[in-house]
Amino acid sequence: MLTLLPQLGIGVVDLAAAFLFLYGLHRMSSPVTAPSGIFVAGIGMAVAVLASFLYAFDVGAAARPNLPANLGLAVVALALGGGLAWWGGRKVAMTAMPQMVAIYNGMGGGAAGAIAAVELFGNKAQGAPALIMTLLGALIGAVSLSGSLIAWAKLDGVINKPVRVKGQQVFNGLVLLATFVVGGYIVVASADNSALILTMPTWIYLFFGCALALGVLMTLPIGGADMPVVISIFNAFTGLAVGIEGYVLQNPALMIAGMVVGAAGMLLTLLMAKAMNRSVSNVIFTNFGEVATRKQGKIKGSLKPTQPGDAGIAMRYAASVIIVPGYGLAVSQGQGKLYEFVKLLQAGGVSVKFAVHPVAGRMPGQMDVLLAEAGVPYDVIFQLEDINDQFATTDVALVIGANDVVNPAARTDKSSAIYGMPILNADHAKQVFVIKRGEGKGYAGIVNELFYADNCNMVYGDAQTVLIKMSEAVRGLGLPAVA
Ligand code: TAP
Repeated sequence: MLTLLPQLGIGVVDLAAAFLFLYGLHRMSSPVTAPSGIFVAGIGMAVAVLASFLYAFDVGAAARPNLPANLGLAVVALALGGGLAWWGGRKVAMTAMPQMVAIYNGMGGGAAGAIAAVELFGNKAQGAPALIMTLLGALIGAVSLSGSLIAWAKLDGVINKPVRVKGQQVFNGLVLLATFVVGGYIVVASADNSALILTMPTWIYLFFGCALALGVLMTLPIGGADMPVVISIFNAFTGLAVGIEGYVLQNPALMIAGMVVGAAGMLLTLLMAKAMNRSVSNVIFTNFGEVATRKQGKIKGSLKPTQPGDAGIAMRYAASVIIVPGYGLAVSQGQGKLYEFVKLLQAGGVSVKFAVHPVAGRMPGQMDVLLAEAGVPYDVIFQLEDINDQFATTDVALVIGANDVVNPAARTDKSSAIYGMPILNADHAKQVFVIKRGEGKGYAGIVNELFYADNCNMVYGDAQTVLIKMSEAVRGLGLPAVA
């Protein structure tokens, strides 16, 4: 009984970690509770690390009599990894967040692959079922590692074109087949005599080589615009790989954390694909950019530039304004100046709301985070389905650094890369002002007919600079605040 107690203790610590993960995730479902959710999940991770150390210190585990010799190395790795993540997390720009997520995700996949490698090279996975699970985790983890690194390179502009060759899908299929054959051989060859696996390191290297190559080959042909979805898929892969390796190690915290990440990643992937009106297979096997470079029909109307001051004053005299933030707002880091402008309008009695598209920016929730950073209250921020009908009765739609998410071609042009994607009905407002630097296209690479519409004026310039000028103009009116 007494010997069982420490094991029970580890079980309770694991359970506490799992509870904290799930509770943290639950709190992440609303922007109001999300920061505390992240904190709670972080504590869960610290508790899970503690549980792993309890395992390592042999607490109650008779089957693991020796203290691992590399415990010191584990502490050094933890300190290095934790320190780097702390420093990186504080330094990273909002616009570089997707790249950071890609790197961290790759690390997770790599860690799962590394656990599998230790199990395989050390002949710790005994018997065919354990071996199959280990190899499966190794495959998924390795694909996630190399694929995430390519995704990072694409998002960071290191690789700036999809790399496609004829017959690529067939070749990728063959590499997948080769990985299964090598894995199958390892299982079959060591089924009768498990010690035999120690004599086949070349096969294990070959297996990892094929899996890593598969991740690279799968990701290279996919266009940069689809990288956030791809990262989310790899995120699900990483979770799955970690969960499987948790099973192999019989570590409940790892199993639960892995499955939570896997399920959340898969759900996010499906939600993102839905918001873009595309299937996941379409993202993986079709090049978004290629469709975008098709010739667009001639667009009627003309671009009508206006001065920031004039646009700002027009909004001060409007009764209602809906603001549509997009990727350009994140690039300019103009969220603080935007909220200053909004407060000026509100002081003048103007009703101001924000309309956030689910895929505005370059990662899920990017606009919500930007607005929260500036201190915009949540009760004026609306998601697409809750606000879209209100544009038609609104005086001004102010589009800031957004493009694809307000492109009416998504409703009408069947040949468009974004056809079918739900868009914000900014064009339905009585007057539209669009802040952008010039005639740059959005991520989908198509011209936006909204900018040429009769009710639309362009306010050219960096979003932050334009917003400063708008505020100056409104202040310059010297109007009294409305109580
Ligand atoms: P985009 O369509 O990418 O348009 C951004 C616009 O911002 C550009 O036209 C650019 O025009 C302007 N801009 C850039 N820097 C600026 C600055 N400093 N000041 C002012 N304007 C600036 O953005 P969106 O409307 O947010 O749409 C997001 C796109 O990303 C969609 O196609 C979506 O499908 C895709 N995507 C998003 C996600 C997620 S999860 N968010 C995932 C996958 C794909 P100028 O160069 O003329 O300034």
